[in-house]
Amino acid sequence: MPAPGSSPGQAFSGIQAFLDPGSPLRFRLRSSPFVLRTSEDRSSFAGQVARNDGRGASARFRHLRPGLFNLTEYRHIESKMNKDPYLRFEGLYGRLIDPMLVGLRELGKRMSAPKRGHRVLDVGCGTGAHLDLYRNCGCETHGIDSSQSMLKVAKRRLGKDTALMIGDATAMPYENQIFDLILCMLLLHEMAELVRNSTIAEIKRVLKPGGRILFIDYHETRPRFFKGWINKIIIEVIELLAGSRHFRNYRHFLANGGLPRLIDQNGLMVKQRRIVAGRTFGLYIATHNS
Ligand SMILES: C[S@@+](CC[C@H](N)C(=O)[O-])C[C@H]1O[C@@H](n2cnc3c(N)ncnc32)[C@H](O)[C@@H]1O
Repeated sequence: MPAPGSSPGQAFSGIQAFLDPGSPLRFRLRSSPFVLRTSEDRSSFAGQVARNDGRGASARFRHLRPGLFNLTEYRHIESKMNKDPYLRFEGLYGRLIDPMLVGLRELGKRMSAPKRGHRVLDVGCGTGAHLDLYRNCGCETHGIDSSQSMLKVAKRRLGKDTALMIGDATAMPYENQIFDLILCMLLLHEMAELVRNSTIAEIKRVLKPGGRILFIDYHETRPRFFKGWINKIIIEVIELLAGSRHFRNYRHFLANGGLPRLIDQNGLMVKQRRIVAGRTFGLYIATHNS
């Protein structure tokens, strides 16, 4: 197997490899998890380096049919996992941001109509406040987040009732098609474009046939006077304080059509939609046929 190297976000062309989800592939790269993109399938897919002996690593793939693929891009996501952008902000998030989001979460819960026994996953679960609502409805709750500090708050809040994991949304450690409902709130806007699409591909992989996804994020159009303007100012300040990369991703997300475009691009269907808070937030229930 040719070695794509280990620089983040590397593009390469003319490299073919036989990829098979069942058998490991040799790679000369040290980072894990990682994402590869192929020319045949516009959605990227994720792999985990399973073993690394210094000379190379064995990798396994999820969400992939076996075959010969032209590899077009490789990006590792380990560096992001090592740095925790929420470190020292987790307390502030819990005290300041979570209370502001109560109304949105309640509305999302009404739209998603969770049932007792539903298996619910929150991708980018943060401090666990969103999952708490679904736990209280008798759902089996699971959360994944790349921030250790946010997860600590979530663990304190949810105790042993919820299965929480540290991990990356683009390479989730769950079996295919096991969740009835997946929550994805205020996650996609802070991701780079490729990561957004890989995250949605993973969400589709772990969603049961007939399952639903609740997306909540910023809305892309001009906010309504007066409430929308005030909200927009608060949002821009928060996003600016979150750092330059975060702010760039947020701007890119809105400029590129936000949730409606991502939902459409990734072959999902909108079942319900609410645009609220002076047109600054959108809530979508989406499904996909598989
Ligand atoms: C703005 S917070 C939203 C948290 C929660 N969903 C909420 O609504 O309050 C974004 C969360 O996504 C997590 N996150 C960002 N990128 C991630 C990734 N690639 N994989 C998993 N979690 C990620 C962050 O650590 C953070 O906890």
